[in-house]
Amino acid sequence: MKALTVLSLASLASAQVAPYGQCGGSGYTGSTVCETGWVFHRENGGGDRRSRSNPLAGSSSSTTLSATTTSTSTRSSTSSTKTTTSITSSSSSSAIVSSTDFPSVTGLNFTIDGETNYFAGTNAYWIGFLTDDDDVDLVMTHLNESDLRILRVWGFNDVNTVPSSGTVYYQLLTDGTATINTGSDGLERLDYVVSSAEKHNIKLIINFVNNWSDYGGMAAYVTAYGGTQTGWYTDDDIQAAYRNYISAVVSRYIDSPAILAWELANEPRCQGCDTSVIYDWVKSTSAYIKSLDSNHLLKRLDHANSTPTEGFGLDTDSDGSYPYTIGEGLNFTLNLGIETIDFATFHLYPDSWGTTDAWGDGWITAHGAACAAIGKPCILEEYGVTSNHCSVEAPWQSTALDTKGVTADMFWQYGDTLSTGETSDDGNTIYYGSSDFTCLVTDHVAAI
Ligand SMILES: *[C@@H]1O[C@H](CO)[C@@H](O)[C@H](O)[C@H]1NC(C)=O
Ligand SMILES: *[C@@H]1O[C@H](CO)[C@@H](O)[C@H](O)[C@H]1NC(C)=O
Ligand SMILES: *[C@@H]1O[C@H](CO)[C@@H](O)[C@H](O)[C@H]1NC(C)=O
Ligand SMILES: *[C@@H]1O[C@H](CO)[C@@H](O)[C@H](O)[C@H]1NC(C)=O
Repeated sequence: MKALTVLSLASLASAQVAPYGQCGGSGYTGSTVCETGWVFHRENGGGDRRSRSNPLAGSSSSTTLSATTTSTSTRSSTSSTKTTTSITSSSSSSAIVSSTDFPSVTGLNFTIDGETNYFAGTNAYWIGFLTDDDDVDLVMTHLNESDLRILRVWGFNDVNTVPSSGTVYYQLLTDGTATINTGSDGLERLDYVVSSAEKHNIKLIINFVNNWSDYGGMAAYVTAYGGTQTGWYTDDDIQAAYRNYISAVVSRYIDSPAILAWELANEPRCQGCDTSVIYDWVKSTSAYIKSLDSNHLLKRLDHANSTPTEGFGLDTDSDGSYPYTIGEGLNFTLNLGIETIDFATFHLYPDSWGTTDAWGDGWITAHGAACAAIGKPCILEEYGVTSNHCSVEAPWQSTALDTKGVTADMFWQYGDTLSTGETSDDGNTIYYGSSDFTCLVTDHVAAI
């Protein structure tokens, strides 16, 4: 679907840089040969550290370089054995981007497309596993029309054995080696999600591993490398493979304005562990991501890191109930204080946590207060119940909207009708066009 070139550092000096790759800038020592039809472009406001090639202004080259008309030239699998350093230059769409397209933080709010406000969003973990481009575009069109501005998707799909043909997976973990699948049944599917998000003005949160065994998760690493789930955070081989995977994904979309943030993991927990285990891992991994992504020098939010957690372990306004405790090895304020973390996330599932639905309001205001005290925004990033969606979740939305420190909410999860039928219904799903959708999206967006 697009030109993808894997270059070794040694060959950089003479090689042509792919669209959106870096091809100039002071202190830059790589190739300054931009792809034909693309020019060196200096971004506003941030010196020239993030210079890159852009389509020639006013030319039709953006069309000829679009995802549908450029075919893949090279595909490569990347192994996690860290003997070679490779840079994956990527292009992800035909969009002409400028720095104002990148999200940023203004005080306790996000600024997206120049608008500083509260934003509504949702989750569709499965969208990068779809094999039909039209299905991806359909979802993005509906999100855009509904004014759902942020979408969270799974950026991982780990397996221990190659699945049957036609099943998408991103990384094969087996016998102490990791092989990243960059092919048409691999990360090219996530590429399409990113390019479609660019076209439809949707901002993405992309994560790199699951605590849970759905789509592999930490358990898939443990199967390939040994150890235990709680040992995952400190195992050298596992962390090297995990970082290599992060590097592969970050480099693919490093210049995409559709990336709102990188997220270290989905709902990491380390039950019974000292909170320093996850703290140390969040600290070193978020610093690693910032080191890959010099955009942070511009103090923009693109490629920001979020604390990836459910919000557990909070002293602020604690009622002593399970989610407020540090039993899962998480201290919310401790992790949010990390310099390379730009904002926090928290989730809300009273059905699973043994609390009442009404308890959720205090959970939201407590996190808003903790985030405001630290001076970083937070997002109610997942919330859901399995029945009475409107009467339970709409009040949470109002509370979030009214709470200083909370800048967005994203219900779990978005549902739609694709070429293959309805998307997965886990009981929490809110389908596009349903009466629950009117209540939790149309009415909520109107209130914003
Ligand atoms: C942040 O958003 C809230 C709405 O949630 C708004 O009341 C507030 O004025 C915004 N702050 C800034 C600095 O725009
Ligand atoms: C939908 O996308 C178009 C660009 O294709 C953009 O102009 C418009 O503002 C978007 N709508 C929203 C609500 O972001
Ligand atoms: C996720 O975390 C919990 C709590 O530490 C743990 O019990 C569970 O096994 C983890 N999931 C996996 C797949 O390891
Ligand atoms: C969580 O971390 C904060 C900030 O370091 C600290 O003040 C607080 O005591 C910690 N809470 C627990 C329960 O350890």
